[in-house]
Amino acid sequence: MHSQIMRSERRKNYELCKIPSCHPFVKWAGGKSQLLPQIMRHIPQKFTRYFEPFLGGGAVFFHIAPYNRNAILSDINADLINVYKIIRNNVEELIAALNYHQTEYNKSPKKYYYELRDSKKVFNNIEKAARFITLNKTCYNGLYRVNKNGLFNVPIGRYKNPLICDTNNLRKASMVLRQPGSSLRIGDYKKILGEKVDKDDFVYLDPPFHPVSNTANFTNYTNNGFTLEDQKDLAVIFKELTRRGCKLLLSNSNTEEIRRLYSDYSHFTEITSANRSINAIGSRRMGYEELLIRNYSQ
Ligand SMILES: C[S@@+](CC[C@H](N)C(=O)[O-])C[C@H]1O[C@@H](n2cnc3c(N)ncnc32)[C@H](O)[C@@H]1O
Repeated sequence: MHSQIMRSERRKNYELCKIPSCHPFVKWAGGKSQLLPQIMRHIPQKFTRYFEPFLGGGAVFFHIAPYNRNAILSDINADLINVYKIIRNNVEELIAALNYHQTEYNKSPKKYYYELRDSKKVFNNIEKAARFITLNKTCYNGLYRVNKNGLFNVPIGRYKNPLICDTNNLRKASMVLRQPGSSLRIGDYKKILGEKVDKDDFVYLDPPFHPVSNTANFTNYTNNGFTLEDQKDLAVIFKELTRRGCKLLLSNSNTEEIRRLYSDYSHFTEITSANRSINAIGSRRMGYEELLIRNYSQ
């Protein structure tokens, strides 16, 4: 019996090792690639399922994917979740479409960027995903911003040779997303967490950050924004999930309001620092402090 369990454990570990590590396939405002070393120090040793309800580029998810196969991933941005689904289900068709965009973009970057951005064509989901990645890799600072009608309105970025189709990384991401225990959903974090999270699940919360000043208020990932009231609602949910016995790790900017909202967890709060670069005015870019708030000791 014991040796059977050992064999099955060994098989499980071997299977996990086969899951490749990869990196986000989009540039994403507030993306956590730079903070990964600090965040990794706080990932709990043991948990049942992994939830990431403010997924964005998924830097933390992709980093821990080799060690976890039960990931419930979601974001309110339907176009972004469509890209994840297409990478999971149709990666080769996507790669072909991206190679086409790469060739056309290289011929005449500015003309092609604006034609693609402003096209009124009705795209199928694979074409939508290819357009999303192409614009993301070539637009100003990788921003995602839409106008009141939901139309993407970011200008072209200043890149010499942007890599639109990172074939290897896309194939690895596809493998990671095909893990049988993983799922992808479009939706508001309240709905996803309200329905699904149980005791011993681990939730990484990375909401749009609370602005450090009135000139640094980039929270428009969708056309709804994320207000101080939303931050307060999230803090209430944090408490509720703590009562349920879930393990929670949250990142946000180091502001007085956020410190106040999570003052009950000040003994499990760390201040970290990363360079934000989504303020359009270069001189206002700043070294930026971020809070990592936990509800568990480790
Ligand atoms: C700071 S970004 C997450 C960045 C991500 N951790 C990464 O490494 O790229 C916040 C994300 O929350 C999403 N979002 C905004 N409001 C939301 C809501 N009410 N429910 C779920 N997701 C939301 C945005 O679309 C955005 O992708």
